[in-house]
Amino acid sequence: MTIRAVIRGVGHYLPARVVPNAEFEPRIDTSDEWIRARTGIERRHFAAEGETTSAMAVAAGRAALGAAGLGPGDIDAVIVATSTPDLTFPSVATMVQAGLGMTRGFAFDVQAVCAGFVYALANANALILAGQARRVMVIGAETFSRILDWSDRATCVLFGDGAGAVVLEAAAGSGTPLDRGILATDLNSDGRLRELLYVDGGVSTTGTAGHLRMQGKEVFRHAVEKLAATAHAALDRAGLTSADIAWIVPHQANLRIITATAARMQVPMERVVVTVQDHGNTSAASIPLALSVAVAAGQIRAGDLVVTEAIGGGLAWGAVVLRW
Ligand code: UT7
Repeated sequence: MTIRAVIRGVGHYLPARVVPNAEFEPRIDTSDEWIRARTGIERRHFAAEGETTSAMAVAAGRAALGAAGLGPGDIDAVIVATSTPDLTFPSVATMVQAGLGMTRGFAFDVQAVCAGFVYALANANALILAGQARRVMVIGAETFSRILDWSDRATCVLFGDGAGAVVLEAAAGSGTPLDRGILATDLNSDGRLRELLYVDGGVSTTGTAGHLRMQGKEVFRHAVEKLAATAHAALDRAGLTSADIAWIVPHQANLRIITATAARMQVPMERVVVTVQDHGNTSAASIPLALSVAVAAGQIRAGDLVVTEAIGGGLAWGAVVLRW
């Protein structure tokens, strides 16, 4: 018998404040037209003062538990992917554990920036396949608005805040690509590329949280090439091809990256979930947010083959192939 990690429920949380592109126009030299044309972003949500990554993660986690028909006592482990934790420590995941009312199990954070959710899913899958946990909650949650340099028009218009969560559960499979659940994962990083996308502060350097810095054009170039490659590697490992894909659920950074990656994979845009217009780039939260929105909209259905792919600071990138 093969064990598979199947997604049993998904949910999300977005802060109430919606910021349309036009709100940036009086403050920096930009325009709604430029942001739409170069990124596809129309609006994003920003957390309220005092609204934390962990609070959003708890709300998303609660929604996912509700969708799964489970309670906090049913979860063995919580993994939160984030680069914007409430505190240097403890982990956001342990805050979620307490926030949900869990009194057992274990919790930890994964930091792989925009690829964080893909990394966290792969780790949760490994824990389930190793028999260390039967049900794992995987959350992507970010407050990137707290690390933006509001005078840098090349970055501050791109990002948003939010959280998305899934509950994974061990299930018996047949060992074929027809099984539901995670079928293959592919993870990569290249630390030589750190200067392309990083935060210029931290505990052991400046003692501050720092601000996001990005060489956008260079990241763009790596993204298009590496995202299609990692998605193909994961599909190969699963014994599948692009033709089997029902939905690509990409990291939502830029509509032009999403479109170029889909074209490289020869997947039509009708089979790509796009939420970047409403959320901006929410880093590790973008894929679970997109999954949750697409499921609520009736796009992704049981049995659909879903490919998620993401790239971010590190650079770190990867893909997960799963059957919903
Ligand atoms: O999630 C992690 C991964 N991150 C990404 O995937 C982001 C990847 N990169 C991108 O999405 C794009 O490179 C950006 C959206 C960041 C930039 O788009 P671009 O087409 O690569 O523009 P560019 O950086 O080459 O800039 C073109 C022009 C420049 O002006 P000049 O030098 O041609 O006069 C920029 O200064 O656009 C200017 N520009 C802006 N203009 C108006 C940059 N930001 C803005 C802005 N408003 N907000």
